[in-house]
Amino acid sequence: MSLVSPHDRVGPDDPRVLLSAEGLTRRFGGVRAVDDMRFSLCEGSITGLIGPNGAGKSTLFNLVTGVDRSSSGSVTLFGEDITKLRPYQRARKGMIRTFQLSREFGRLTVLENLMLAPQQQLGERLPAIFFQPGAVRRSDDAVYERALEVLQISRLEPLRDEYAANLSGGQKKLLELARTLMIECSIILLDEPGAGVNPALMQTLRDMIVELNRDHGKTFMIVEHDMDLIAALCDPVIVMTEGRHLMEGSFDEVRSDPRVIEAYLGGAA
Ligand SMILES: Nc1ncnc2c1ncn2[C@@H]1O[C@H](COP(=O)(O)OP(=O)(O)O)[C@@H](O)[C@H]1O
Ligand SMILES: [Mg+2]
Repeated sequence: MSLVSPHDRVGPDDPRVLLSAEGLTRRFGGVRAVDDMRFSLCEGSITGLIGPNGAGKSTLFNLVTGVDRSSSGSVTLFGEDITKLRPYQRARKGMIRTFQLSREFGRLTVLENLMLAPQQQLGERLPAIFFQPGAVRRSDDAVYERALEVLQISRLEPLRDEYAANLSGGQKKLLELARTLMIECSIILLDEPGAGVNPALMQTLRDMIVELNRDHGKTFMIVEHDMDLIAALCDPVIVMTEGRHLMEGSFDEVRSDPRVIEAYLGGAA
């Protein structure tokens, strides 16, 4: 086993880095939710982001994707400073995220949810379908064709006409990931994709992430509490605690680091 992860200590200027952040800070009242945080995301990697509850992981995703604004620091995507861009502008550049809580439209079908995803993610006006559940506009053939492909990739084909409200928690998570595939993107940020997913669907989710990484060239950053998923998929793993970058390395390095053990035990106490 190598002692140094292949991605460890990669600086933001390394050509393999697609996305990086420097000095990001976000306070809520007196709480520094994200505090001078930095990271680099390498092309083709599945990078894990772990840390105790309240460490600032979701807030970091919000800052990186533009859902929330940092008070200082910068975000660089494909070598371009995107710190001031709106979320849909960042999405257009190829960075898509999911939310910790699924955001499907319960009264629309799985297929309709997929067909709506491009407008949602790219900040365009919601089409008529939103106001007329059940009336999928076949006129947008390209979107329809892509939705059929995504149904295959995400194993949701058998559920295409099911209302999203009727899906299990795990199926909603699959749909959430599937919706990211509706627009051209190279970076996918997943916030707790495994939360509330049963073991069988967890395997499907894992397979899907591996396939998207290996066969479709997607780069992932994944926040997840399920350490089996992190161990199986992620290298490197970044550990965040109290808003800060604590350490980074392979899963084995991280797991055995006293600072990480302390951070988790401190959080639990
Ligand atoms: N909108 C908000 N308003 C006030 N405090 C917030 C808000 N969002 C997050 N926080 C606080 O910021 C800290 C980090 O939260 P979060 O980013 O959700 O952590 P994580 O995702 O790692 O569990 C926590 O102390 C949380 O209570
Ligand atoms: Mg969170």
